[in-house]
Amino acid sequence: MNYYYITGTSRGIGKAFAEHLLENPANYVIGLSRQCSLEHPNYKHYYLDLTDVNAVTDFKFGLHAHAKKVYLINNAGSLGFIKPIGKLEASTIIKNYTLNLIAPSILTNAFIECFDTTDAEKVIVNISSGAARTPIDGWALYCSSKAGLDMFSRVVDAEQKIRAENPLESIHKGFRIFSIAPGVVDTNMQEEIRSASKEDFSRLEDFIGYNENNQLANPKVISEKYFKLLSKINAINGVSISIKDYD
Ligand SMILES: NC(=O)c1ccc[n+]([C@@H]2O[C@H](COP(=O)([O-])OP(=O)(O)OC[C@H]3O[C@@H](n4cnc5c(N)ncnc54)[C@H](OP(=O)(O)O)[C@@H]3O)[C@@H](O)[C@H]2O)c1
Repeated sequence: MNYYYITGTSRGIGKAFAEHLLENPANYVIGLSRQCSLEHPNYKHYYLDLTDVNAVTDFKFGLHAHAKKVYLINNAGSLGFIKPIGKLEASTIIKNYTLNLIAPSILTNAFIECFDTTDAEKVIVNISSGAARTPIDGWALYCSSKAGLDMFSRVVDAEQKIRAENPLESIHKGFRIFSIAPGVVDTNMQEEIRSASKEDFSRLEDFIGYNENNQLANPKVISEKYFKLLSKINAINGVSISIKDYD
């Protein structure tokens, strides 16, 4: 059996990931978010607010001793409020970094600890964004948390490679980790971007244009691209990548 832990399965890209995986009876999906919109015999939902560090810390992965694959997909994320720095509440800053960067770091740490000796294909996929590499006004928390997620992934990958070279550690299968940007996708997040105020966001017209000119990808199509790529895991070059590079 293959086990996929996915954050943010209630809608958008995370829901498309779960639906895609559940087409195969060999897959079991564990979804983590505040709402549940999926029902399937191979789906289990954990109601979890990923801005609540204590709740995230308390989350426990299963054991899955005979799993063929174990995946953690840190997909849940949010722009928070689209406003320039100087106009944000401190509590918004704390919540947004917790959701986008701290929760994925805590979950990845627990995942590696839990499955360290499990002899399966063990993969962490963080959902990044082009915003990790481009400063976009009104998105300071989002850009910096996604940039942090990319670097976090690169460090974990470096650690796994160092471990793999140690003959004392080589009996255990290591973890692969990727931080993959999906491009612009037709989800609630894009609706939120289009509802930002012009005064707080200079690129509002660009994002309205992506929608009007049908430039937003369908989450189902994006999900298929992610799993096609992950099915040839050894052919992936690099850790911090964009799905568009593999079209
Ligand atoms: N859409 C795009 O164009 C685009 C582009 C680049 C990157 N991304 C990235 O893709 C990922 C998915 O985004 P999306 O577009 O699918 O967004 P979305 O449609 O808004 O879905 C976000 C998901 O995250 C979950 N989530 C949000 N806050 C949460 C919280 N406090 N606790 C638990 N779960 C929470 C939501 O579940 P609940 O509300 O039920 O909790 C929902 O399932 C994000 O990391 C985003 O940054 C998206």
